[in-house]
Amino acid sequence: MNPVKIGLLGLGTVGGGTVNVLKRNAAEISRRAGCNIEVAYASARDLNKPRICDTTGIELTTNAAEIVENPDVQIVVELIGGDTLAHEMVMRAIANGKHVVTANKALIAKHGNEIFAAAQKQGVMVAFEAAVAGGIPIIKAIREGLAGNHIEWLAGIINGTGNFILTEMRDKGRDFDDVLAEAQRLGYAEADPTFDVEGIDAAHKLTILASIAFGIPLQFDKAFTEGITRITREDVEYAEEFGYRIKHLGVSRRTDSGIELRVHPTLIPEKRLIANVDGVMNAVLVQGDAVGPTLYYGAGAGADATASAVVADIVDIARVLSAEPSHRVPYLAFQPDQMADTPILSMDEVVTAYYLRMAVIDTPGVLAEITRILGESGISIEAVIQKAGRGEGDTVPLILMTHEVKEGQMNKAIAAIESLDAVQGEITRIRVESLG
Ligand code: NAP
Ligand code: HSE
Repeated sequence: MNPVKIGLLGLGTVGGGTVNVLKRNAAEISRRAGCNIEVAYASARDLNKPRICDTTGIELTTNAAEIVENPDVQIVVELIGGDTLAHEMVMRAIANGKHVVTANKALIAKHGNEIFAAAQKQGVMVAFEAAVAGGIPIIKAIREGLAGNHIEWLAGIINGTGNFILTEMRDKGRDFDDVLAEAQRLGYAEADPTFDVEGIDAAHKLTILASIAFGIPLQFDKAFTEGITRITREDVEYAEEFGYRIKHLGVSRRTDSGIELRVHPTLIPEKRLIANVDGVMNAVLVQGDAVGPTLYYGAGAGADATASAVVADIVDIARVLSAEPSHRVPYLAFQPDQMADTPILSMDEVVTAYYLRMAVIDTPGVLAEITRILGESGISIEAVIQKAGRGEGDTVPLILMTHEVKEGQMNKAIAAIESLDAVQGEITRIRVESLG
């Protein structure tokens, strides 16, 4: 049988890893796919750059368009990143009748609806396992393994760089910028690392997960995003005193009024397995009505781990190259004409518990004033600690854990508390999820 010919766009961390894994495991991959897989062409910006892979036997070009126009190429593997050139190349590849594999979550989250519609029309496959949670086969698990379930919610640590930074800061007391620089050196971070630390990358991934879990179109513009840059060592310590860990979590939950789609730092009870997922590792917890909770864990970034998912997609496509399009698994898990129009909820409608930290002047009656405001807003307090001797000037840190309340109500209560004379500066608010 003739080998399946791949055209690789990008020879960086993931592109290089993909060439390496395809070479290293060629015999086993071909036994699984039923054919040999050959990276025949590859593109990069600078052909003189040192590579992590051996490119012998691959025809190289700086012009990605040559690959998507090449009639010899059956599968285009897009590993450039971003949503400009990558978008153009993917659309051209589809128009030319080529199947596409991509690790590009920004591209899928922002342009996936258009890409899948075009691919459906052309009868080609677009596979994107590596776009979410690196090497964890989470797309396949939700799309196929959980197909019998009504999925109620999912929550995940879905950015390796962010989790690596939080873990190193907590365990080794390292500086934020120093750990971020290491994540960049290791090839974990996005080309623009603010995507990692501000939660944009996680929101891209969460948008994709919500779409395949709930059968809704991709709606990245409706995702709420809050990053990790404002988390302090104090918050990490106080959270631990309450029995929690702080993780940067993507949460999507189906409620009676709509779907929550949010990424933010979150306190999780330390006894949950997901609270103990550290370093570059990712984990996604999915609650299905039939199966109950299931947890998927593995490396969330890095050359070989991500290549594992890219190669699995290539093998999937190679296996069914000659199958009728109607026999394939739908791109977003649900049949394209069966997508629901369930609204995405605004953050004001989201219900969670909260951790609040504020600096208060240590005078009698302050706590009573604060609890009065919370009580009048229908917010009940679960725990309080005041740290004498830990504040700046004549203030002391006051930390409160609340029960669940709508975010809109909490916003009003926070504004009222911040307006008290005894409360100095802004209140730090971190959402709390029990994930039970
Ligand atoms: P990368 O190391 O920066 O590699 C990007 C590749 O694309 C490089 O080979 C680069 O060429 C090439 N390229 C960039 N702009 C180009 C242009 N204008 N014209 C032609 N080629 C161009 O990025 P990466 O980390 O491999 O990420 C690739 C994709 O995978 C992204 O969508 C990313 O979000 C996703 N992803 C990454 C990871 C990870 O752990 N890194 C994990 C999951 C998903 P040069 O090498 O010559 O500069
Ligand atoms: N920058 C991403 C991360 C790469 O750190 O998770 C994997 O998608």
